[in-house]
Amino acid sequence: MAVQKKRIFKVFVGILIGILASHLSNTRFCKNGEKRKDSRPLQLLGVENMRAFNKNLLFVGVMTAAKYLDTRAKSVYDTWASEVSGKVMFFSSEGSYSDHVPLVALPFVDDSYPPQRKSFMMLKYIHDHYADQYEWFLRADDDVYMRTDKLEELLRSVDSRKPWFIGQTGRGNNEEFGQLSLDSDENFCMGGPGIILSRETLKRVAPHLEFCLQELYTTHEDVELGRCVRKYAGISCTWSYEMQVIFYHNQSGESAFSSDLKQKEVHRAITLHPVKKDRHMYRLHKYIKGLNIQRLQQSSLILHRDMAASMSELGYHVDSLSNVELAPNLSLFPAKKGTPGYLGDTNILGVPTKLNRYTPHTLENVLEWEMVSKTLYSHRDLNPRKRIGSSLKEGLSDVTREVMELINSYSKQRGRVIEFKEILYGYWRVNPIYGVDLILDMLLVYRKYRGHKMTVQVRRHAYVQQTFTGIFVREVSNTHHPSQHQLSDAKHLPLHKKIVHEILSKLNAKLPLLGKSGAVNKTNINFILPLSGRYDVFKRFLAHYEQMCILQGENTSLYVILYKDEKSPQDFTNSLKLVDDLKSRYQLESVKVVTPNDTFSRGRALQIGVDLLQNEDLMLFIDVDMIFDRSSLERIRRNTVIKSKIYFPIVYSLYNPRFLNGHGNLSRISQDVIDETRGFWRQFGFGIVSLYKSDYVDLGGFNLGIKGWGYEDVTFCDNVVKSNMKIVRAVDPGLIHVYHDVMCDEHLEIEQKTMCLGTMANTMGALRTLQKVFLEYKNLFR
Ligand SMILES: *[C@@H]1O[C@H](CO)[C@@H](O)[C@H](O)[C@H]1NC(C)=O
Ligand SMILES: *[C@@H]1O[C@H](CO)[C@@H](O)[C@H](O)[C@H]1NC(C)=O
Ligand SMILES: *[C@@H]1O[C@H](CO)[C@@H](O)[C@H](O)[C@H]1NC(C)=O
Ligand SMILES: *[C@@H]1O[C@H](CO)[C@@H](O)[C@H](O)[C@H]1NC(C)=O
Ligand SMILES: *[C@@H]1O[C@H](CO)[C@@H](O)[C@H](O)[C@H]1NC(C)=O
Ligand SMILES: *[C@@H]1O[C@H](CO)[C@@H](O)[C@H](O)[C@H]1NC(C)=O
Repeated sequence: MAVQKKRIFKVFVGILIGILASHLSNTRFCKNGEKRKDSRPLQLLGVENMRAFNKNLLFVGVMTAAKYLDTRAKSVYDTWASEVSGKVMFFSSEGSYSDHVPLVALPFVDDSYPPQRKSFMMLKYIHDHYADQYEWFLRADDDVYMRTDKLEELLRSVDSRKPWFIGQTGRGNNEEFGQLSLDSDENFCMGGPGIILSRETLKRVAPHLEFCLQELYTTHEDVELGRCVRKYAGISCTWSYEMQVIFYHNQSGESAFSSDLKQKEVHRAITLHPVKKDRHMYRLHKYIKGLNIQRLQQSSLILHRDMAASMSELGYHVDSLSNVELAPNLSLFPAKKGTPGYLGDTNILGVPTKLNRYTPHTLENVLEWEMVSKTLYSHRDLNPRKRIGSSLKEGLSDVTREVMELINSYSKQRGRVIEFKEILYGYWRVNPIYGVDLILDMLLVYRKYRGHKMTVQVRRHAYVQQTFTGIFVREVSNTHHPSQHQLSDAKHLPLHKKIVHEILSKLNAKLPLLGKSGAVNKTNINFILPLSGRYDVFKRFLAHYEQMCILQGENTSLYVILYKDEKSPQDFTNSLKLVDDLKSRYQLESVKVVTPNDTFSRGRALQIGVDLLQNEDLMLFIDVDMIFDRSSLERIRRNTVIKSKIYFPIVYSLYNPRFLNGHGNLSRISQDVIDETRGFWRQFGFGIVSLYKSDYVDLGGFNLGIKGWGYEDVTFCDNVVKSNMKIVRAVDPGLIHVYHDVMCDEHLEIEQKTMCLGTMANTMGALRTLQKVFLEYKNLFR
């Protein structure tokens, strides 16, 4: 993975991740099964055929049993066994039969455990039939996974003419120790993760297998094989610490390799054991294939960079490489964009790794860093400090694993290992064109085990770049799942829409809730609206209510709790008149006004509304500044469940429209209202809530001691958190809080005044908008 190394620790890594988002215009097409035949230079050298040519490297004998032939054995045959440079055979008891795998039913062998006879007879059979055709022989169980490419690399690096007995060395566990009849310098190769014999070893041992089988000291098949090999081939199992890493055995039994596979043990191993379920075998195989793809993408990236660098020496700019001809009629990139042989955008992939590979030319294009330590510090959110999300966490652990592998790739030669402790802090940013940049301050432990031994903690910086590799789309025929007419509906759509269509139709099948509305009765939503003064805003609210609820025949009721505001008594009478007007126009029963003779308190107003309702009624506490659409009514109905769920939507709050050149002037909601410049999500607002009256009562209702606009909603929310009720807290794009001016009374206490000014500042405009205003009118701020 190393692209450029600066001294030992300053690694500059390019790591790959593919993204499957946006840029569908760049879509490339990889039709499955379409093989290219134009790698002429390689063919000339004969390299391409090397693997096929050398098909007699390894013979694999898989020990299985009749009852596993259709499951474990089949999964082995379907996955790694198909990629062995050599031959794979399965060995089972006398009379076994399989349609799925090449099988030898060993005569006079049954499926009893321990399988000593099966193992020894298998080796004998292999020797008698195949000893001269293969260099290496692997005794495998049916619950082992082999990374065949790595195995091949390992075997090709060892002289197969010598006697070898390779595997994970065992000496018995604590209970067994002393009972295996092993001397202190004797060992055996553990059977589970696989045992490899060179041809010479097999030849030396085979004539004596029958005899060894009659002279068993223990019931352990692998211990006895080890004893036989030691006695007749004169060798032990490889004494090497590395073998524990290469032949990896996981202790957690049945559940091994059934959950997270992103572990350094899995990445480093050649054989993985035990994989007890066939579906876990397929899953593991797919995961390993993914790793291989990633590795190939990495080499492709490095080749692109090399190409760009060499061409730049010849005077070509990286942007122009796609048109370069090396000689007349011989272009550097033989296939054009959009054709199958296309090699990728060198002007993106060929850019060398450095922190300034991208240069912003305007303020908007400057990429911002986020800081990572125990928590994430981000400018993107109202709440600047928050938990590190699971995707970033996973990304960071991927990166550190890769970096550590890189740092440790020469550990053996240098006689030291370096272990990862933690990331003290780091910065990261995403460039939508090139990829992710990371700067990590890592705490490591440096252990020198050769020469002058020592263990010290060290801190090192790592500069990491992950490069995006473009988008690949693969068409999969899915003949059995979606019904035919759904497929034919999608036939004429462009590809990316087809995919979306297919996903949606599957989702729809799984989520009956997304079906056509209107089929079920819609619960009545009782709006409770406290109001004091503010006639103009109320007029807007009521007009909106009329449009969204009354004219659409929505099942809703509205309770207005109207107070007299001493400062504007006119508002009170006007508001009353407005409601009467509406009621008479539509002959409505479902809109009611209550006028308490009291000073205004939001909590008490809501309580008055609640008192008018029945226990099983669904209530929505709302403010006069809000507007809503019908989709949010639907969400209210779905997210509020009696005795179970209370919905606290996060509403979208518009900024002061004076800063928005009229964009903030809202007459109706549409999806494109919501963006970063026009408003923000009110993460800390808990005033809009929907719940059933009985739940409200059970939770003790509001604390009514608070006057004016108080914290009754926050304290109520706290009570809900403490209760057994579930809170549904999510952004609701249909609920919008319209901006209104905040007036801060000059006579307020200094603390309250600061708070008030703070609120005013927060709702004024987006940071970028204010920045622009500031830059434009700098003089005024002097
Ligand atoms: C291996 O075993 C350990 C402990 O039993 C477990 O935590 C880990 O997830 C296992 N690894 C795999 C790849 O299953
Ligand atoms: C290049 O290819 C074109 C058309 O394929 C052909 O007419 C031309 O002669 C070729 N030039 C050389 C130098 O081979
Ligand atoms: C819907 O309401 C009508 C009358 O209001 C009633 O007759 C019908 O049974 C209800 N349907 C369901 C599914 O609740
Ligand atoms: C309206 O809501 C009430 C109470 O939730 C329910 O009983 C009634 O069936 C609903 N009416 C319609 C037409 O959906
Ligand atoms: C409202 O309250 C005031 C004093 O608290 C009282 O004088 C007045 O008569 C009350 N009005 C009504 C309509 O109850
Ligand atoms: C909003 O638009 C309406 C009509 O389109 C207009 O009368 C009103 O003045 C506008 N308000 C602002 C603040 O621009």
